[in-house]
Amino acid sequence: MGIQLSEQELKEIRSVTEKALQKNNADREKLLPILQEVQHNLGYVPKQAMQQISEALDIPEVEIYGVTTFYNQFRLNPPGKHQIKVCMGTACHMTGGHIIMDSFARRLNIKEGETTPDREFSLERVACVGCCALAPVVVIDEKIEGKVRPTRVDGILLGFEMEKKAQEKQKQEETGESQ
Ligand code: FES
Repeated sequence: MGIQLSEQELKEIRSVTEKALQKNNADREKLLPILQEVQHNLGYVPKQAMQQISEALDIPEVEIYGVTTFYNQFRLNPPGKHQIKVCMGTACHMTGGHIIMDSFARRLNIKEGETTPDREFSLERVACVGCCALAPVVVIDEKIEGKVRPTRVDGILLGFEMEKKAQEKQKQEETGESQ
């Protein structure tokens, strides 16, 4: 299940990547800063950017992909509207962080590091977020959820679904009223 990009987004990817290449004189030695620049401007490194960099620097795409996966500072999918970060530091791992990760992955039908096709949610792992006493911890849109149990996962996602439905309803009512 891939993420669909609009024409506008593809255009932006091309231009951001071109600028990052120019800024670094399309120098093969500067692959890392080029990728960092793309991520900084787009929030992730799309595969279209990797293709463009691959052609410009004459580096096989698979090598560029290897670099982005080696350094876990890079994300390969656009961030979701809601970002779910499961802590995988020692305390959280020991108290079942991986089970929480699996529960979100199953429920959202994506893998760690991916974004749902509707771009509502992205799922990723983070290192210790500094509140180990609350392990296992999940950070959702910068808000800490502590002592998360797998049964809580459904509740968290349901909360977002209800919020979305309420917003849609409100929008419909507003547009209905304005007609
Ligand atoms: S290990 Fe998760 S908050 Fe410290």
